Amino acid sequence: MRVRKAVIPAAGMGTRFLPLTKASPKELLPLLNRPVIHAVVEEATGSGVGSIILITGMGKNAVEDYFDISPHLERTLKEAGKDDLLREVAGASRMVDVVSVRQKEQKGLGHAVLCAREAVGEEPFAVLLPDDVFQSKRPCIGQLLDPFERFGKTVIALQEVPTSTVHRYGIIDGEEIEPNVYRIKRLVEKPSPEDAPSNLAAVGRYILPPETFRVLDSLEPGAGGEIQLTDALDRMAGESEVYGLVIEGTRHDMGNIMGFLTANIEFALADEELGPMLRAYLARIEGRQ
Ligand code: G1P
Repeated sequence: MRVRKAVIPAAGMGTRFLPLTKASPKELLPLLNRPVIHAVVEEATGSGVGSIILITGMGKNAVEDYFDISPHLERTLKEAGKDDLLREVAGASRMVDVVSVRQKEQKGLGHAVLCAREAVGEEPFAVLLPDDVFQSKRPCIGQLLDPFERFGKTVIALQEVPTSTVHRYGIIDGEEIEPNVYRIKRLVEKPSPEDAPSNLAAVGRYILPPETFRVLDSLEPGAGGEIQLTDALDRMAGESEVYGLVIEGTRHDMGNIMGFLTANIEFALADEELGPMLRAYLARIEGRQ
């Protein structure tokens, strides 16, 4: 069955970016001149997953506004002959139809995904966590669609992480059944390095069957006292089949300041106009160290 809908949880508080996130949602942090949520929505639509379900919460109206049409701004840019900017602004508003669902209590990622139950219905769906952004030849969520079409079962994105950082992720125990494809036996959310079954981490992209909602609905709070998506996947790995694909590309964790900086530097270096200027600047400041 085709994957048409993408759930993007955008209700988190962004504590690592306080005090900025007191007044501005972390999903609107810039990735060059666009907010990070723009890149994540584009990843979904660019992979043919065109219907977006945003899970929002208190203080997130600006995220919804971003995808709305701004007639006044568009008129002003048109009258001023600023066609390039007009194209950018109009593109962002018309790139996609966004439905938003409020998560009224902060009960964790699993709970946020469960909020999309009615909007998704009985069909497979994608989940994209906007803290994770990728630079890859093929959009990350698009890479997952191949094994999903072949197996018709849950597929999640994996990447190797250093053992010292496994406590930040959902970590898998699995068997490699073909190059870069794992059949997952179990998953553990945020294990200590001693308890981690591997150093293959879930990195924020998932293709899930509608049964996920039933499982999420039956879960008790897990790590951090929250309903964890990883716990639902762990249950599903026991009851059915869950696969992991080690995806190609560089991941940036926009949820912390260092990841935000590296993402912006790498995207700027890859940009035709900014790249040469940034390289010259970096060469200049290297002399200062
Ligand atoms: C979430 C998931 C975790 C996953 C991570 C990827 O954690 O719970 O399993 O590995 O995203 O970024 P969070 O970063 O929201 O704490």
